[in-house]
Amino acid sequence: MIHTWLTNTFGLAVPVVSAPMAGVSGGALAGAVSAAGGLGLVGFAAGRPEQLHAELETARTTAAGKAYGVGLLAWLLPGNEALLDVVVESDAALISLSFGPYAPYVEQLQAAGKLVATQVGTVDDARAALAIGVDLIVARGGEGGGHGRNDVATLPLLQAVLDAVDVPVLAAGGIGTGRGLAAVLAAGAAGAWVGTAFTVATEATTAAEAKRAITAAGLTDTTYTTVLDIGRGIPWPSEYGGRALRHPYAEKWHGREDELRADPEPMDQPAVWAGQAAGLVTAPRSAADIVRELATAETYLDAIAERMSRGTGG
Ligand SMILES: Cc1cc2nc3c(=O)[nH]c(=O)nc-3n(C[C@H](O)[C@H](O)[C@H](O)COP(=O)(O)O)c2cc1C
Repeated sequence: MIHTWLTNTFGLAVPVVSAPMAGVSGGALAGAVSAAGGLGLVGFAAGRPEQLHAELETARTTAAGKAYGVGLLAWLLPGNEALLDVVVESDAALISLSFGPYAPYVEQLQAAGKLVATQVGTVDDARAALAIGVDLIVARGGEGGGHGRNDVATLPLLQAVLDAVDVPVLAAGGIGTGRGLAAVLAAGAAGAWVGTAFTVATEATTAAEAKRAITAAGLTDTTYTTVLDIGRGIPWPSEYGGRALRHPYAEKWHGREDELRADPEPMDQPAVWAGQAAGLVTAPRSAADIVRELATAETYLDAIAERMSRGTGG
């Protein structure tokens, strides 16, 4: 077994967090990941506190005694602080507050015994997270699915963040196999934060058509843009675009965002949020199978250790 800060802190068998993905990772997916030995996070954007409570209850019962968590979008919290009360009252162990000003909420969660994570896209973001006092920093590269920054790719960001902070760091963006998990563990990450690979899990609430499109997509079939949010009329902060499968609407309007804002055209087909790791996903599988595939990281790390010991042994 691989032991890291992440596995030791949350009692995991595999150093993997399934990313919070609003509309995709409800309690069923999060609970299934936790039951399989990872740490499953419920993703929640906007909605009634009762809905969040119900998802967390599903996660808790499905996780069968294992730790689970939840991720909220920080830019949507002002005016929706009741969601935080639900989180505080739950037994979710890890709380992710990402994308927006999360500092005002960290103390309340930590006082309730929760560990707090945030996703960073630059070294400046990471330094700010350290100053705010989060427990865990997720270095999220631009190849990741869904929203975030697109300034730096996962591997350079991870190296720089590991050198810049002294709290545990997870890597996110483009990790979809045991090889990828092995790579970031070898670099010094405490584990991986994986989204796209879990979008096609049987337990994910992704639409069937979107699951088919993600499994069919190749490594170069995604695009990073703000156009899809403008088209949906969702006011994400401008520094956070989103990565989704190529989309005719995005191709038409990318680079003409001001024009689109001034004279909006309805979007006729939904966005399918996914990162470059879509090219690594070839078939829908259970969350447990995806966790098992990621756990093969151990084989790759053992092979390196074996090669090194043979080298030193002559
Ligand atoms: C479909 C989808 C929805 C997402 N929704 C959220 C969300 O609600 N909150 C959040 O913090 N991150 C969200 N993310 C981003 C993930 O937390 C994570 O940064 C990303 O999936 C990591 O890269 P990967 O997709 O290559 O594994 C989402 C990602 C995807 C693919």
